[in-house]
Amino acid sequence: MRVAMIGTGYVGLVSGACFADFGHTVTCIDKDASKIERLERGEIPIFEPGLDELVARNVGEGRLSFSTDSAEAVGEADAVFIAVGTPSRRGDGHADLSYVHAAAAEIAGLINGFTVVVTKSTVPVGTGDEVEAIIREKRPDAEFAVVSNPEFLREGAAINDFKRPDRVVVGTDDERARAVMAELYRPLNLNETPILFTNRRTSELTKYAANAFLAMKITFINEMAEVCEKLGADVQQVARGIGLDNRIGAKFLHAGPGYGGSCFPKDTLALVRTAADADAPVRLVETTVQINEARKKAMAGKIARAMGGELKGKTIGVLGLTFKPNTDDMRDAPALDIVPALQAMGAQVQAYDPQGQEAERLLEGVAFKSGPYDAAEHADAIVILTEWDQFRALDLDRVKLLMRSPVVIDLRNIYPPAEMRSRGFRYTSVGRP
Ligand SMILES: NC(=O)c1ccc[n+]([C@@H]2O[C@H](COP(=O)([O-])OP(=O)(O)OC[C@H]3O[C@@H](n4cnc5c(N)ncnc54)[C@H](O)[C@@H]3O)[C@@H](O)[C@H]2O)c1
Repeated sequence: MRVAMIGTGYVGLVSGACFADFGHTVTCIDKDASKIERLERGEIPIFEPGLDELVARNVGEGRLSFSTDSAEAVGEADAVFIAVGTPSRRGDGHADLSYVHAAAAEIAGLINGFTVVVTKSTVPVGTGDEVEAIIREKRPDAEFAVVSNPEFLREGAAINDFKRPDRVVVGTDDERARAVMAELYRPLNLNETPILFTNRRTSELTKYAANAFLAMKITFINEMAEVCEKLGADVQQVARGIGLDNRIGAKFLHAGPGYGGSCFPKDTLALVRTAADADAPVRLVETTVQINEARKKAMAGKIARAMGGELKGKTIGVLGLTFKPNTDDMRDAPALDIVPALQAMGAQVQAYDPQGQEAERLLEGVAFKSGPYDAAEHADAIVILTEWDQFRALDLDRVKLLMRSPVVIDLRNIYPPAEMRSRGFRYTSVGRP
């Protein structure tokens, strides 16, 4: 199959490289010329484990190429994927569909012969109808079908998630499009991956339902952590105790500073808006959004309390800034709320993140350090914000010697409280006595 991928970001680049690895011929297109230039030089513009090797191999074997010009690739494609961003629209929280609409208008002028236009971006119910209408208006003659195929990959584990997904969801009523989609994903038959064919609207909603449910699950355990702190219970054991129940499942039950990232915040908000407009309010999700916002804001207070209440003149070493480990993505990272709040309370912040380039652009007044020990030096406390592997096995004696006072606030629960105390730290974590 010949594939054109419009949008070469976290999703487009990974999906394009994986489809190429499946044996298809893929052109990844982006209007950001500097991104395409870097890719053509063999550089990967994002941090995603394994992606450099996968891209290099498929480029080398002639199945993957990059372009800023969509004309040739779209004209030849069996399937054109739209994988552009759908951020929150400023002001009202609806998904901003301007990039999707622009991509549809561009594709319309270029498709040639029967073409499947696949929306991989996360889009509200009914967007497929809009994409179809945009193309139909411009090209009443064109032979095409618009399909919804939401992406469920996680940054940091994206290649494995794409190649070994729990399921693939394809929304279409068109038999020819269904055959093209089945052929694209045929390599997954080997692992007997369920491919769920639904109508387009169902597929669009399934993506939001999945993200809203996961955000709700995280928020649930975060609330349990609050209860644990008040009542002397241990949230990690509560999580294990409920997670072993198959009806609940153990994943997404790690208490922390509140969810962030490029998807959950904007997708929960967009679902809230879409559902309200349809007169079917999703109150659990509305509440989840509110609790999570409040939680991220409350974290600076928690840190201040652990440091005795006063932050003026104090130095805080922050370990980890990205919204989760193994990515450089800072979109809606809790650090973007927590670090400025600590600064506003008078603290000096020095920080280290293994992929902190984007954070350095976004956070003002922070002293960026070159390693965890530098970030701990002369600190009155360290705060673990992202659970990068390299923070899990720190030389704690060295950390303690470097610090001005041995206070650790671990918002990811990566260290055992008893051990930290026996080593002489004043240790605070989330939902654990
Ligand atoms: N990042 C994730 O983990 C993830 C997971 C699942 C789904 N999604 C969804 O996938 C979509 C893309 O997310 P992302 O994280 O890859 O975004 P991103 O911002 O990393 O990438 C989007 C890319 O599209 C390009 N673009 C925009 N308009 C274009 C056009 N008309 N022609 C060519 N290129 C264009 C941008 O320059 C950018 O490089 C979003 O809807 C998101 O919700 C993201």
